Amino acid sequence: MRLTGARVLITGASSGVGAATARLMAGTGARLLLAGRDRARLEAVAAEAGGQPLVADLTTDVAALAERAGHVDVLVNNAGAGWAGPFQRMPATAVDALVDVNLAAPIRLTRLLLPAMVEAGRGHVAFVASIAGAIGVGHEAVYSATKAGLLVFAEALRDELRPIPSRGGVGVSVVLPGVVDTPFFERRGTPYGRRRPVPIPPQRVARAIVAAIEHDRPETYVPAWLRLPARLRGAAPGPFRRLATALGGARGS
Ligand SMILES: NC(=O)c1ccc[n+]([C@@H]2O[C@H](COP(=O)([O-])OP(=O)(O)OC[C@H]3O[C@@H](n4cnc5c(N)ncnc54)[C@H](OP(=O)(O)O)[C@@H]3O)[C@@H](O)[C@H]2O)c1
Repeated sequence: MRLTGARVLITGASSGVGAATARLMAGTGARLLLAGRDRARLEAVAAEAGGQPLVADLTTDVAALAERAGHVDVLVNNAGAGWAGPFQRMPATAVDALVDVNLAAPIRLTRLLLPAMVEAGRGHVAFVASIAGAIGVGHEAVYSATKAGLLVFAEALRDELRPIPSRGGVGVSVVLPGVVDTPFFERRGTPYGRRRPVPIPPQRVARAIVAAIEHDRPETYVPAWLRLPARLRGAAPGPFRRLATALGGARGS
């Protein structure tokens, strides 16, 4: 998928990975639609990267956002939030908020924007999931579940939207970051408390997102070595869990 001239909607463009993706895409000639809740930060990103800010809360405004975005060639479902702590103490409102923003909103937005891509015979939908969705992380049970939901949703969608040989069709990608140096941890209210893995810069995830879209990559782990624990869990869940426990539990985001 060529980004030059493409209309690209990025959710969560006001901060972290989304803002880095917008800045990187600015150099490709893409026409950017930058979605988020914080108008001032969206406008600051738009001033640097170009593009149109679209203020919308994904828990309530998905339909309005899709309408204002109009035809979109590329959708980057990046917005997300975290919550960390024992599941038994997680407030019901926090459960609902996480499921809404991390899982329901990307599905709803994709449902609204995909038909025009299919009709055009061209487009791409990218999802920013997490290593937590591939391995399941203690104290991040709901977060892990929302990201696992995205992984399987994307896989199913990709199966459904097989390439149309003469037209290219609509691609689907998932990017699974490990720990990224963004305001995510501060905003979820629990800092990242481990020395390893060392947080990677959001620009690295942005590069993976752009490459996934340009080369139609189904699944990209960032950094790439994170594929190993995910594969081990799939092939040998027992040994994986014992190893994770010995290493102090699987902690990601
Ligand atoms: N940071 C990590 O370690 C890490 C690791 C793996 C995966 N991820 C995933 O990467 C994605 C980006 O996270 P980040 O690290 O860049 O975090 P971030 O800096 O906190 O950015 C989160 C973005 O999501 C938007 N957002 C949150 N709730 C929203 C809502 N209700 N409606 C609309 N927008 C909303 C925020 O918009 P406003 O600020 O305008 O509200 C913000 O732009 C998320 O899906 C996250 O789960 C992050």
